Amino acid sequence: MRVRLCHAGELEEGRARGFDPTGTGHDTMFVVRRDGLHAYRNECPHWADTSMAWRKDAFLNADGTRIVCAAHGAQFDIATGLCTLGPCEGDSLTRVDLIESEDGSLSVDPSQLETST
Ligand code: FES
Repeated sequence: MRVRLCHAGELEEGRARGFDPTGTGHDTMFVVRRDGLHAYRNECPHWADTSMAWRKDAFLNADGTRIVCAAHGAQFDIATGLCTLGPCEGDSLTRVDLIESEDGSLSVDPSQLETST
């Protein structure tokens, strides 16, 4: 099963966007375009189930070079999801695999967003 997110062309370089492919009512994942597309679950490894953005789509620092968790300021490398500064340094975000169709549509398999128990 796939759920369509958007067209890849809608994502600007150096920007992030949150998505709610499973219809939970809040963004459970986000995609960053910076030297390619990078997608992660919207869950900080510092405190499980903590949403990282302080407002819609605010997943990056001011110059768009790092992913930042608004809760306690942890910073993450965009390409790898590794926390490089903050209370969960050395831990990583959980990557979400994107499926890009020939027409440029981006989709995900929503089973990647199920809560692990
Ligand atoms: S919950 Fe993300 S840094 Fe603490």
